[in-house]
Amino acid sequence: MGGFDCRGVRGEFPEFSRGVIYLDNAASTLKPRRVVEAMREFMYVSYANVHRGLHTLSMEASKAYEDAHETVAKFVGGSWDEVVFLRNSTEAMQTAALLAVFNGLLGPGDEVLLTEAEHHSTLLPWVRAARLVGARVRLLPVGPDGVPLWGRLEEYLGERTRVVAFHHVSNVTGAVAPVEEVARKARGAGALVVLDAAQSVPHMPVDFRRLGVDMAVFSGHKMLGPTGIGVLWGRRELLEKLEPPLAGGGTVKRVRLVEGEVRAEWDVTPWKFEAGTPPIVEAVGLAEAVLMLSDIGMERVRSHEEELTSKALRELTRLEEEGLLRIVGPKKTPERHGIVSFYSPRRNPDEIGLLLDRRRIAVRTGLHCAHILHDRVGAPMGTVRASFYIYNCPEDVDALARAVEEILRKPQKTPRKAAEPSP
Ligand code: ALA
Repeated sequence: MGGFDCRGVRGEFPEFSRGVIYLDNAASTLKPRRVVEAMREFMYVSYANVHRGLHTLSMEASKAYEDAHETVAKFVGGSWDEVVFLRNSTEAMQTAALLAVFNGLLGPGDEVLLTEAEHHSTLLPWVRAARLVGARVRLLPVGPDGVPLWGRLEEYLGERTRVVAFHHVSNVTGAVAPVEEVARKARGAGALVVLDAAQSVPHMPVDFRRLGVDMAVFSGHKMLGPTGIGVLWGRRELLEKLEPPLAGGGTVKRVRLVEGEVRAEWDVTPWKFEAGTPPIVEAVGLAEAVLMLSDIGMERVRSHEEELTSKALRELTRLEEEGLLRIVGPKKTPERHGIVSFYSPRRNPDEIGLLLDRRRIAVRTGLHCAHILHDRVGAPMGTVRASFYIYNCPEDVDALARAVEEILRKPQKTPRKAAEPSP
């Protein structure tokens, strides 16, 4: 498949020895040996705090930490000083919203434009930031398939639009947004463009400068890296001008008491945005994950997942035609990437998930932190979501389709009846 050996790569992932068919990659990916080994080696041999000591260990650790910025930056078409390490995408998006508030980029009467399809990690930070300053949030509606009506974008962009924040790939529908076009129009209207790239950077070649966005976020744990590290990417010329929302150790060059007043001289980007001891070990792990993905080649990752996605759509569409389920989102690739979600009139999504788990198939079920989107597409109890990665092979899709068909055709005992959908 695309010259890519999905079976061979499994050797790097000891978790497969448990016989699981892992289709929950949009939530988090499994961890390869080389990432775990890189972190272990670093902790055992070169570990110390960074940027806080002149001793050998601290210098080595600082070098590894700085190199990690460089490696990650290169992966998304940026430079080291454009990559801020935070805890995850959510914290990175939160930081972007706080940057807008702290630096007066958003004020009373201004507007933030989001879409109804946003993950809560994008929606809620901007809703709160807007409330804090007296700005208004507008939501570009989605169509019946859950895809934002991008054709109506201009109706929603106004002279008060200061920020446009949206997903690159939806974590529910897998729909791929026309980022370049949206960014061009939004920047043309004078807005800051912030991209949720959590479901795109792990799965396809991404170059933020080429996409034309101002800031973007993604998480390490969704791309073979460890938990506890996420990235806020920003254009250097923008980051250089901004004051950090989180202050503390590591963010300043010098603090002085001048005539009874505390004055801080901020450090350069990205250090001024990384308050406190940063995720050092996690940065080493994320850099190793990026190197592994680069060794494979992101174009190969993309085309491998595209084939799996197309196959899943074909198989599940067959069941949809029989009325057993309904697929949410675009019905073909490349409009959709790496994620296939559905719900059934016969079974609650959580029940389907539990019955799949009995067959050792791991999927995510529920509302996937995108409640408004589920309400809009008529799935208020949620969906079953299968999401693919490099170690998934066509037989995983066959196993999923067979199991879903069996569960939905035959009445069988349910492990647990869920009253409320999973969040
Ligand atoms: N944001 C992750 C997901 O969609 C956790 O599953």
